[in-house]
Amino acid sequence: MKKREVHIVGNWKMNQTLEEISKFFIEMSKMKMELKCKAWIAPQSIHIPILKEIAFTTGSIQIGAQNCSEHESGAYTGEISPLALADMGTEFVIIGHSERRMLYGEKSELLNKKVLLALKHKLKVIYCVGETLAEREADQTFSVIESQLNIGLQNIPAELAHLLIIAYEPVWAIGTGKTASAEQAEEVHAFIRTKLTMNADKTLILYGGSVKPDNIDSLLLKENIDGALVGGASLGAQDFRALCSSGSTAMM
Ligand code: PGA
Repeated sequence: MKKREVHIVGNWKMNQTLEEISKFFIEMSKMKMELKCKAWIAPQSIHIPILKEIAFTTGSIQIGAQNCSEHESGAYTGEISPLALADMGTEFVIIGHSERRMLYGEKSELLNKKVLLALKHKLKVIYCVGETLAEREADQTFSVIESQLNIGLQNIPAELAHLLIIAYEPVWAIGTGKTASAEQAEEVHAFIRTKLTMNADKTLILYGGSVKPDNIDSLLLKENIDGALVGGASLGAQDFRALCSSGSTAMM
């Protein structure tokens, strides 16, 4: 039995056509299951309204965004405002994914602005942290993560801290097929919890990086691993359902 509610979050990244989305939900609906954990999906933003509609009819999956702007409105062509996300009934937003940090140069200072604005609009925020392989090999894992937490989470108002979720995603494990062992992940999760200054015991800390149906169970056995942020294995209904089924079992 887990102390905190297990969350399985699918990060679809820049994938899925309308046809694939429809197939995903048709297959999901055929596999009747009683969800005891939370199942969330972050599609491409343009698909949020469609998924919201399907989620409304199926009633079990919550929909979020993969990124948002640090600005509320104005002349920022191509950006997505957290205000617009909240307005659309979006439930959560992922901020600081390593692909945003590395491919788009987003630093923790900028991510802090995004976090504060998204929280202001009452979006749940999944703030991602994680070290690269070079940083792990140089024994910098804890210092890198501490700095990502300290800078990215500064000035969060106490009354909004309950909306915050952390995802630990070692960069070397994302999309590579290399998962951190449950022990390696738990060590970092426990460290992250000691660094949270508000709501530490209740804050969800998700693990991400090549999570699959065959490795999730050992991760969820760990005290400080409250769920998973899943890329590749969340794209197919069969695997996503298997992950949710593991999440449900862990809740019992
Ligand atoms: P992966 O991606 O499960 O495909 O490794 C995880 C993520 O990037 O959130």
